[in-house]
Amino acid sequence: MAALIVSTLVIAGVANANPFWRPKLATTLEPNVYTATAASDVYAAQATAPTTSFPKHYKRGKAFDRFLTIWLENTDFSKAAADPNLAWLATKGITLENYHGVTHPSEPNYVAAVGGDTFGIDNDAFIQIDGNVSTVVDLLEDRGISWGTYQEDMPYSGFEGFAWRNQETQANDYVRKHHPPIIYNANTSPLRLSYQKNLTQFHTDLANDQLPQWMFITPNMTSDGHDSSVTVAGAWTRNFLEPLLADPTFTDRTLILITFDENHSYTLSNKIFSILLGDAVPSHLQGTTDPNFYNHYSEIATVEANWNLHTLGRWDVGANVFDVVAKHTGDVVRPYAAATAQEPEIFFNSSYAGPFNTAFQQAPYPAPNLEIMSPGTHRSVLPAIKKAWRNSGLSSYYTDSVEVPDGQHPPKGYAYNDVNN
Ligand SMILES: *[C@@H]1O[C@H](CO)[C@@H](O)[C@H](O)[C@H]1NC(C)=O
Ligand SMILES: *[C@@H]1O[C@H](CO)[C@@H](O)[C@H](O)[C@H]1NC(C)=O
Ligand SMILES: *[C@@H]1O[C@H](CO)[C@@H](O)[C@H](O)[C@H]1NC(C)=O
Ligand SMILES: *[C@@H]1O[C@H](CO)[C@@H](O)[C@H](O)[C@H]1NC(C)=O
Ligand SMILES: *[C@@H]1O[C@H](CO)[C@@H](O)[C@H](O)[C@H]1NC(C)=O
Repeated sequence: MAALIVSTLVIAGVANANPFWRPKLATTLEPNVYTATAASDVYAAQATAPTTSFPKHYKRGKAFDRFLTIWLENTDFSKAAADPNLAWLATKGITLENYHGVTHPSEPNYVAAVGGDTFGIDNDAFIQIDGNVSTVVDLLEDRGISWGTYQEDMPYSGFEGFAWRNQETQANDYVRKHHPPIIYNANTSPLRLSYQKNLTQFHTDLANDQLPQWMFITPNMTSDGHDSSVTVAGAWTRNFLEPLLADPTFTDRTLILITFDENHSYTLSNKIFSILLGDAVPSHLQGTTDPNFYNHYSEIATVEANWNLHTLGRWDVGANVFDVVAKHTGDVVRPYAAATAQEPEIFFNSSYAGPFNTAFQQAPYPAPNLEIMSPGTHRSVLPAIKKAWRNSGLSSYYTDSVEVPDGQHPPKGYAYNDVNN
């Protein structure tokens, strides 16, 4: 791994000496530098890969100043709601009764939560989304809002490899498929890699008052319930959050979303148990429920609404903003009866075609829809995205509707038959 060693040496130390908002790390994309998973390569990179933190520098949001989401794994709504630790957390916040995954299996759900589409992914493979596809990271940086990921047991900041196991027990620990920003090549510059850290760094950043304003937390494969049970995931989550919820400097103007990637039963609709917590939830709403339709795209829409960000021009534009936030931003939360009815007509339990679909034939990347705006609030597509895609010649299927497609209701041109004929 000569390439790996050379490039890490060049940048080693720079970030440590200069841990500020715009440290002097390269912004060129390097999607293949840190992919090696052999223990010797991992340990070599671990010794040198830069980590960057932010000094406290907060852009005021309309409803919150800090967003943190924790993703747990593969549990049906009813089972999660019955877990005593998740039920305890629910008494401190708002339970979202109609929050849905967008497909199966895991990876496309994680991908959707930062990039506004699944791109047809129907698998958990090693995927690299083209560098010209933007994520919420571009929207946040455009407004000077700090961001970071905290992945439990990721061996070093910016590790791009497929997986990392516990070296003593060989149990699964970190998996790339549960770490969304890194799946997008757009987030692989040395600078952006240095913001994608492990959970040890969360505690360091917390102690130094250097947590970013947007955070995506993934527990390891045991802690998140994937290789264990919802009991383990619930206990881990309460253990992690209970001290933070009791810490006023942490919870002040913070919005926390606990969610799952997908429902366990593929033949049922993909409803997942989700809770909003933190001081952004007013005390009179603690222990209540919100029946509105949400999905993983709501995570992006809510952040866009809160900081008045531009959009990606994908499924983020029409997604419902969480009601507790929408009350401050003027966004209208819209119904989606076909998805929320007692007997829903749409299940979100399979993927439509796309560049990464393996069951169907591949279909081209969809271009963002450069003309759509968030309904009523008129947030427009990021100018840099418009510039990159204006002359792409690729068609777009996105609308500003709250309704989104699935494998059984695909966008035109992205169904099995469309693609094969
Ligand atoms: C977490 O990341 C840091 C920074 O890259 C690294 O030094 C440390 O060894 C990692 N910790 C674990 C538990 O892997
Ligand atoms: C996962 O994290 C927990 C602590 O949160 C730790 O006890 C465990 O060793 C880690 N790894 C595995 C494979 O369980
Ligand atoms: C999705 O759910 C419907 C209704 O239960 C079922 O007919 C279909 O087979 C499911 N699809 C998959 C891929 O499991
Ligand atoms: C998965 O979602 C469906 C539909 O929303 C819900 O009825 C069900 O509770 C969830 N699965 C199970 C088995 O709990
Ligand atoms: C995006 O990048 C890929 C890979 O470099 C390239 O093939 C494609 O043409 C680019 N698309 C646009 C819209 O620039």
